[in-house]
Amino acid sequence: LDNGLVRTPPMGWLAWERFRCNTDCKNDPDNCISDRLFRTMADLVVSEGYAAVGYEYINIDDCWLDKERSYTGQLQPDPVRFPYGIKDLSNYIHSKGLKFGIYEDYGNYTCAGYPGILGSLELDALTFASWDVDYVKVDGCYSLPRDMDIGYPEFGYFLNRTGRPMVYSCSWPVYQIYAGIQPNFSSIIENCNLWRNFDDIQDSWSSLESIIDYYGNNQDSIVPNAGPGHWNDPDMLIVGNFGLSYEQSKTQMAMWAILAAPLLMSVDLRSIRPEYKAILQNRKIIAVDQDPLGIQGRRIYKHKGIEIWARPISPLYQNYFSYAIAFLNRRTDGTPSDVAVTLHEMGLVASGGYRIEDLYEDVDYGILTPQTKIKVKVNPSGVVILRANVQPSYAPTTPYDPFRT
Ligand code: GLA
Ligand code: GLA
Repeated sequence: LDNGLVRTPPMGWLAWERFRCNTDCKNDPDNCISDRLFRTMADLVVSEGYAAVGYEYINIDDCWLDKERSYTGQLQPDPVRFPYGIKDLSNYIHSKGLKFGIYEDYGNYTCAGYPGILGSLELDALTFASWDVDYVKVDGCYSLPRDMDIGYPEFGYFLNRTGRPMVYSCSWPVYQIYAGIQPNFSSIIENCNLWRNFDDIQDSWSSLESIIDYYGNNQDSIVPNAGPGHWNDPDMLIVGNFGLSYEQSKTQMAMWAILAAPLLMSVDLRSIRPEYKAILQNRKIIAVDQDPLGIQGRRIYKHKGIEIWARPISPLYQNYFSYAIAFLNRRTDGTPSDVAVTLHEMGLVASGGYRIEDLYEDVDYGILTPQTKIKVKVNPSGVVILRANVQPSYAPTTPYDPFRT
């Protein structure tokens, strides 16, 4: 959607994967979906350095609503859990220099059974604008997937008419794919800033693997749809929760950068361990995710559990891109795997070579020619991610010693 927003993928915090539909503030006041939770996370996004590396949106997901609309038909939050109203929360988040996102559903109900927007599209768009909302996720439960080709653009029209710029996150294609309908991606690109293609992420490596496989196996139809202002959304970052090991967490962060994915953390920022925080705050990987060219990466090699993924990034030299390259080890044989490949074999063919650095480890490979064989050691369920910056053809090259540490 060409509304001037999210020219690079949105970054922020989203409640759902970690906090779900916990409405029990009586017994679990620290973890229920409430005003307090969002204020606390906004505070931490700033004080713990997430905002400084680019995380910006604080997004509510399902279960914020009251069970009924107001007597005037307006959406209203649960009065106990959001006692000051949504505008007050939005003001607070803005006062921290952050942006505020909300959740609704293009149907009769949200997925958790709260009032949906069907029948009130214009009023609800105006309500969001009056609350100074910056980002709206519109889910697709309790609606008919075939109606979405009209419904999502219609709600987008009403959002646009409010005059307030709001990021528009759609679940339109995923519900249509589930219903066996071929999504109209040219319309989705025109009407939405981001959209879900596949299953909800859960707190497990198998869930993460299934998402990586989906994007790899369907890349020919998915990758071309991404670009500035319009992104595929493989769902939230679960780094720092319970289900991923340290290696697997590095894999998610690296892969989301390769996929030009929104970086929406769903984690308890009060208790995240420092090594996971460091993954989420890795500036070099964030820079890949946020590359201004906005080209999504693809899987270029897959054999016996080893995968290589490559994303074209800036800077360019003549017609040659720079690249982010991720080596994935999906093997379970318990020992790091060596992968050796020439730059040329990965499509890095510029005669001036590439300056290559590792984005997790402090390793600078120097400038390598396309004929050079690069060798990496990839831990089981882990990743090595490199950045290869194309060099002008007159630059000197240095011999590469694979045994250098
Ligand atoms: C759907 C969405 C999730 C989340 C839940 C909330 O499953 O895909 O991201 O918003 O609904 O109920
Ligand atoms: C209800 C509504 C219909 C239609 C369906 C979609 O039945 O009354 O208009 O939107 O839901 O699930």
